[in-house]
Amino acid sequence: MTAAERWKDYACATSILVALTSVYYAYKVKNTTSLTHLSPPKDGVEDLIGNTPMVRIKSLSDATGLNVYAKMELNNPGGSAKDRVALNIIRTISSEQGIEGSLDKKNRVFEGTSGSTGISLAICCNSLGYSCHISLPDDTSQEKLSLLTALGAIVNKVKPASIVDPNQYVNAARSCAESYTDGTGVFADQFENEANWKCHYETTGPEIYQQLDGKVDAFITGCGTGGTMAGVSRYLKEKRGDQVRIVLADPQGSGFYNRIKYGVMYDKVEKEGTRRRHQVDTLVEGIGLNRITKNFLKAEEYIDDSIRVTDEEAIKIAKYLCVNDGLFVGASTAINAVAVLKYAENLPKGSNICIIACDSGSRHLSKFWKEALEVDNNILLEDIV
Ligand SMILES: Cc1ncc(COP(=O)(O)O)c(C=O)c1O
Repeated sequence: MTAAERWKDYACATSILVALTSVYYAYKVKNTTSLTHLSPPKDGVEDLIGNTPMVRIKSLSDATGLNVYAKMELNNPGGSAKDRVALNIIRTISSEQGIEGSLDKKNRVFEGTSGSTGISLAICCNSLGYSCHISLPDDTSQEKLSLLTALGAIVNKVKPASIVDPNQYVNAARSCAESYTDGTGVFADQFENEANWKCHYETTGPEIYQQLDGKVDAFITGCGTGGTMAGVSRYLKEKRGDQVRIVLADPQGSGFYNRIKYGVMYDKVEKEGTRRRHQVDTLVEGIGLNRITKNFLKAEEYIDDSIRVTDEEAIKIAKYLCVNDGLFVGASTAINAVAVLKYAENLPKGSNICIIACDSGSRHLSKFWKEALEVDNNILLEDIV
């Protein structure tokens, strides 16, 4: 081999090496680039609240010709959208009333709730230096009681009663706060407290808008306190006006549907006297109500329509989403998903529709999911609505 040929081979080998090295570095940079999307470490659990991901639900999108997105509030550290509310209530009492957290946790937050808000308050109180006292009906599921106790909350079980009874759990929480003397007691009062809807106006709404590049054509969720609906719908209407449809998904037994459709807060079970002693005659926890609250009043002017969903439909779709999308969701999310199917024909194909995925199925194992487990794995959407 001549010196010129040797030189040629050498040059060729070098270029192959350079090419391979470039491919390797390009691959590495690509992966490093995706890693740069990770957010930096947070300062305390409360800083993990919000900025939740959004996922396109493939099965419902294919079936409706829409893009159906779920805002994954179940990804909050306390497992639901109520983390945002708990944090904002505590920050507001701290900034407006000067009631601070401390190492001895002598200042105490009181709430009456059998739902996710208690868990979210317990987490935020622990992280911010308050003690937490939760009043709830004595038939609240064992998993919720265990979770609250594990989180160190003081649990006050009361007999189920109507809202006009002073021993009803919300009223019990208010009087416990008033009689607390070891520090300052504050009543969180999520139904009437404006820190509730405001946190969704300031965070959840803008996040949804940003995640969909502003193209939000419809938003569907249920109302418990109405805080999520009020904050998100107000933000979206301010940004999109009539280009966004706001739809309230309501479980059976709740009065919101008739209030939106006919202006009357009423469900026929009230008349027939068939209502069980629970406020709303449904298996679904967290949404549905038969009284008007301040947070709902803040929502009402933005709501365009309402869709009624039965427990049976919700139970079936919960199983469908689990088996077909790998989404294991709670009852209120299932209600929202059924409402999408029922509302879809009102929207042009290709529209973006967003629902709230409020919490995980694991919060509902002993009640709602006990029924959903029985649904056939091969259930079709045609069998649901
Ligand atoms: C599981 C679940 N979904 C939905 C809601 C309704 O949210 P909002 O109170 O903002 O109406 C709640 C409220 O407690 C809830 O616990």
